[in-house]
Amino acid sequence: MPNRIHVAFVAGLLATAAFGIAQTNTQIKKVPITRTSPASGKQMYNAYCASCHGLDGKGGGPAAPALKDPPTDLTTLSRDNGGKFPEDHIYTVLKFGVDAPAHGNAEMPVWGPALRSLSGGSALAGSIEQQRIVNLTNYLRSLQQ
Ligand code: HEC
Repeated sequence: MPNRIHVAFVAGLLATAAFGIAQTNTQIKKVPITRTSPASGKQMYNAYCASCHGLDGKGGGPAAPALKDPPTDLTTLSRDNGGKFPEDHIYTVLKFGVDAPAHGNAEMPVWGPALRSLSGGSALAGSIEQQRIVNLTNYLRSLQQ
């Protein structure tokens, strides 16, 4: 399937449902979230984030042109925060979503429910979700310039 890129995305209606986006040129549509290892921040990043933020984190992923707002450059999070990686802020953003921008809905997906849905039904779902978010946060730390 040329030109079909899968991007994980959350609509958040059902706790057990998982979502994604398939992007062809300027259209984005939802596709099921793919399975990844909770232990690998890099694998999760490449599967869920790179389509918008780019493999290098700079914001130039293939789905970026279809968005109203450019995806944040994730390599300057520390620089833009006075040299300190904003760990707590990133954890909160990934779990609960970004602050809604003044001009409409945030395009950045809310990841907590989608990541949790990957272990839906497990008694450990909450702690696996936390492990996923911590490992994603640590991967973003490793991308800092
Ligand atoms: C559908 C495209 C898309 C995907 C997929 C996506 N993002 Fe984003 N992200 C954005 C956009 C757009 C912004 C800028 C804020 C906004 O407009 O929502 C953003 C902002 C951010 C921010 C900055 C938030 C802040 O408060 O400064 C972080 C951190 C982030 N994304 C991390 C991730 C991670 C990690 C993933 C994968 C788990 C991911 N994003 C997946 C589009 C995306």
